[in-house]
Amino acid sequence: MTANEIRDSFVKFFESKGHLIVPSAPMVIKDDPTLMFTNAGMNQFKDIILGNRPATSKRCTDSQKCLRVSGKHNDLEEVGHDTYHHTMFEMLGNWSFGDYFKKEAIGWAWEYLVDVLKINKENLYATVFEGAPEEGLERDNEAASYWEQYLPADHIINGNKHDNFWEMGATGPCGPCSEIHIDLRPEEEKKKVPGRDLVNKDNPLVIEIWNLVFMQYNRKADQSLEPLPAKVIDTGMGFERLCAVMQGKRSNYDTDVFQPIIKVIGELSGCRYGEDPKKDVAMRVVADHLRTIAFSIADGQLPGNAKAGYVIRRILRRAVRYAYTFLGQKEAFMYKLLPVLVQEMGKSYPELEAQKVLISKVIKEEEDSFLRTLDTGIRMLDRVMAETKAAGKHVIDGVEAFTLFDTYGFPLDLTELICRENGMEVDEKAFDVEMQKQKERARNAAAVETGDWVVLAEGETEFKGWDYTEYECHILRYRKVTQKKQTFYQIVLDYTPFYAEMVGQVGYRFLLCSEFENIEILVTKTGKQPACAYRQDFASTSRCGFHGLCRHRFARRQ
Ligand code: SER
Repeated sequence: MTANEIRDSFVKFFESKGHLIVPSAPMVIKDDPTLMFTNAGMNQFKDIILGNRPATSKRCTDSQKCLRVSGKHNDLEEVGHDTYHHTMFEMLGNWSFGDYFKKEAIGWAWEYLVDVLKINKENLYATVFEGAPEEGLERDNEAASYWEQYLPADHIINGNKHDNFWEMGATGPCGPCSEIHIDLRPEEEKKKVPGRDLVNKDNPLVIEIWNLVFMQYNRKADQSLEPLPAKVIDTGMGFERLCAVMQGKRSNYDTDVFQPIIKVIGELSGCRYGEDPKKDVAMRVVADHLRTIAFSIADGQLPGNAKAGYVIRRILRRAVRYAYTFLGQKEAFMYKLLPVLVQEMGKSYPELEAQKVLISKVIKEEEDSFLRTLDTGIRMLDRVMAETKAAGKHVIDGVEAFTLFDTYGFPLDLTELICRENGMEVDEKAFDVEMQKQKERARNAAAVETGDWVVLAEGETEFKGWDYTEYECHILRYRKVTQKKQTFYQIVLDYTPFYAEMVGQVGYRFLLCSEFENIEILVTKTGKQPACAYRQDFASTSRCGFHGLCRHRFARRQ
């Protein structure tokens, strides 16, 4: 089965069990302060689970784009180095909101894997929650009793709170869970060590494929558990892992989810996947990160300097640096991989096709901008590492790491990664101190002092921009603003042809003209004032007069 066929077969199976097929929610979350990105299929249903909103259907199924690069669920460090972790991945899921519970969830999971996909049941293991007396939680005997109908006793394993009590984040819906693991090792290996001894032990061939969560509680901010209004089933299956199982591959990157991308990376870089372990890691990193960045941009999250935007920028820079160091890519090249991604995933995720021009442009600009400083930064880091080693140490100075961040755009995790590759570490505490100092400096510089309005004439602004690009006008009032040790003047006009909303979007230039001079201004909105113009040092041009009603002529130029 191809990846696309597998995705379809999952949702169709649950449709046949009365589930509504719903689209994936965006991967970028804008309305939940506890999360930056969708990290699980259940995120879009959080309000339903908590009882704050009714469900459209009591049974739903989908394939959800997820990202695990921040917060409680963060796989970034592993990505590329192993064969089964990803930043972005798809999670196949089925939900019951106060409808069926453990019996059907377990029964249908079994039916889908064993009867529909024909996976050999001898290779399957299920874990059940062993209980947590400190929270008053008992072993999940009910789930265990259902598993006993399908699996021999030695394929059912108790698991602790870490593995078998799933929580969305520090707060929110949670409950005991049963994970389904699969043993993909050759028969002779299985004879030597039974699969049950390798479950949850980071063996790349004995991996979790599906998590069935029996949501029963809401974790409150004080860490107490409050029962949910109704019991909920929330399951999540790793789509890329399932594809590897179904396509008989040892690595997710060998499936048709990643191979088409890896093939183009090979063509563009002249490297062959499978020949050099270091290059293979880099090719996996680039293939994985490309998907994350492209889908984030499609969902409205551009790379930036803060919060979610910085997470995306860090991921992109991690990929650029791998491609630079190990695949010899000294110029932007990730954006050239976009067509193959759109070709492979555009049908299932139309937002990718719709946004491809923007995505390509943003990736290229980001690549170009980081590549401008990458080479100098790497040379500086090489020198710092060499000096540190020469001094008999293995921890590089946090101040140097901060300079790399501040001047060359190296995210801390990138510096740490390069250091680790060289058997070294970064003094993170010293880095944090430098970061704090800089924030302090920025805060001081950004402090704004605003003077009182000086009123020259009463009245409000009348917008003339629909009909005119130039208009005669007068200053009604003005005030002095000091920011970053510079002085600006804000002015309010009686008539204006300027579009305040357009500033920063289309790059209009505005001119304020008098008989003495032409002054370039910025147009913005201040409080209720519909339009307001300000410009540095405006007062020094006092000849154009804040005294009385002077006549100005306006021109808007594009
Ligand atoms: N919420 C669970 C998980 O993410 C199951 O969907 O693993």
